[in-house]
Amino acid sequence: MRKVFLVTVITAFLVTGAHAHMGATGVVLERMEAMKSIASAVKAIKSQLTSDNYSSAVVSENAALIEAHSGKAFTKLFPKGSEGAPSEASPLIWKDWAAFEKIADDLKESAGILKGVASDQASLKEPFTNMLKTCGACHKKFREKLN
Ligand code: HEC
Repeated sequence: MRKVFLVTVITAFLVTGAHAHMGATGVVLERMEAMKSIASAVKAIKSQLTSDNYSSAVVSENAALIEAHSGKAFTKLFPKGSEGAPSEASPLIWKDWAAFEKIADDLKESAGILKGVASDQASLKEPFTNMLKTCGACHKKFREKLN
């Protein structure tokens, strides 16, 4: 019994311990999970860029997932007062809400453009890079890395 308990504790630590957000709950946890699904969608798309076995479905489905998680669906996960550890959201978000919303909309738009070219592997690179720029632009201004 005791051993099983320990293994569970250790596994739980390995799964969550690598992140800065131990103990995140509610909307903060929700947005971290959303961002993680966005990040794995990015990885899935990236794996297709140079794949010899190209799947346009993988690209369009994952671009659609990112599109669905951005814009208003994204900004609604940032209600006023939801900053502070373990969240890495910068208080600047609420001081410059219009700029924050604009980048969330840019992500939606660029994911839509990427989805639109999914049938042609050769034309993915530029829209993919443009989409990643929106991740970087928002993180640079509105995310404060805790570690
Ligand atoms: C409009 C702003 C914005 C955009 C666009 C954005 N992010 Fe983020 N991202 C944030 C903020 C703010 C946080 C910190 C959230 C928190 O800790 O409460 C974050 C956190 C993250 C995290 C850490 C999640 C965790 O487990 O704590 C990952 C991974 C991430 N973003 C990936 C991405 C990727 C990949 C993209 C682009 C496809 C992207 N983000 C686009 C604002 C943005």
